[in-house]
Amino acid sequence: MSNQNQRSCNLSVQVGGIQMKNPVMTASGTFGYGEEFASLVDLNKLGGIVVKGLSLKPSAGNPPPRTLETCGGMLNAIGLENVGIEAFAQEKLPFLQTLDTPIVLNMFGHDIKTYAELAERIQDMDGIAGIEVNISCPNIKAGGIAFGTDPKMAFEVVKAVREKTGLPLIAKLSPNVTDIQAIARSVEEAGADAVSLINTIIGMAVDVATRRPKLANITGGLSGPAIKPVALRMVWEAARAVRVPVIGIGGIMDAMDALEFLIAGASAVQVGTANLVNPRATVEIVEGIRSYLAENNIPDISDIIGSLTIS
Ligand SMILES: Cc1cc2nc3c(=O)[nH]c(=O)nc-3n(C[C@H](O)[C@H](O)[C@H](O)COP(=O)(O)O)c2cc1C
Repeated sequence: MSNQNQRSCNLSVQVGGIQMKNPVMTASGTFGYGEEFASLVDLNKLGGIVVKGLSLKPSAGNPPPRTLETCGGMLNAIGLENVGIEAFAQEKLPFLQTLDTPIVLNMFGHDIKTYAELAERIQDMDGIAGIEVNISCPNIKAGGIAFGTDPKMAFEVVKAVREKTGLPLIAKLSPNVTDIQAIARSVEEAGADAVSLINTIIGMAVDVATRRPKLANITGGLSGPAIKPVALRMVWEAARAVRVPVIGIGGIMDAMDALEFLIAGASAVQVGTANLVNPRATVEIVEGIRSYLAENNIPDISDIIGSLTIS
């Protein structure tokens, strides 16, 4: 396949009002605040950068040990350690503003009021393409997952954020639910412009020698290739339940994984744990998708999205 043909494939997507060069974004918490990867990845080649989850005040997260490798993935109980929104605005944002890539701020609160306050603060910042509201973190005691597992609470928190911001709003959903379609419909009704899923699946590991949990937090969030089939199923279900675009996340390690999500109905994907194994995973996935389109004579990525054939 010639380079000319490869270049002529259109990879650009529009997701909930965010215009991206390609459908490959970073997943929150696995790519720092972007700058950490600047010497390894041409950040302008990414579809979008989603930064580490931000809160109103800085947070130290949970005590160690808080990560461990598992079969086909990892468990983490970081507990949303972050610099806080003000230090982000002063120390991290100026670099991100120099990029030609949409920047999405992932954020979380401990109650509806703090979610709304954060949204108001972000609304005033320059150079932000959108907000991803984390209603799905399994590793903090208050907030997070409590909002993402109840359709009514999910509705309330997204509505409160919606009232404070005109920025594109992505609701990040938890897989730790029985009916993902009910939650997806709730946040759509509350005004989300897109949904992203999945966050990590709650898991745990035991040290047999000491008979103690391997994580200080006891439980943690499972991510990586082990969760891909679950993620794919949930993305497919969500895409059939809502009209807003769906962003697929979970165990995407290479371009073929990303294509599975796009075919199942995702308009874009986020790459998480793969960044910790191969820091260049995101850009390699962009090139892999481009090659797949060229080799199969598919001119536009939109021909792939939701193209799953069931007969
Ligand atoms: C170390 C680590 C930190 C994470 N931090 C966040 C976070 O701050 N906010 C959030 O919404 N998701 C967070 N996540 C979840 C990821 O963004 C992603 O939804 C999940 O890991 C599944 O994707 P993956 O299998 O590609 O990693 C984190 C995941 C990991 C592994």
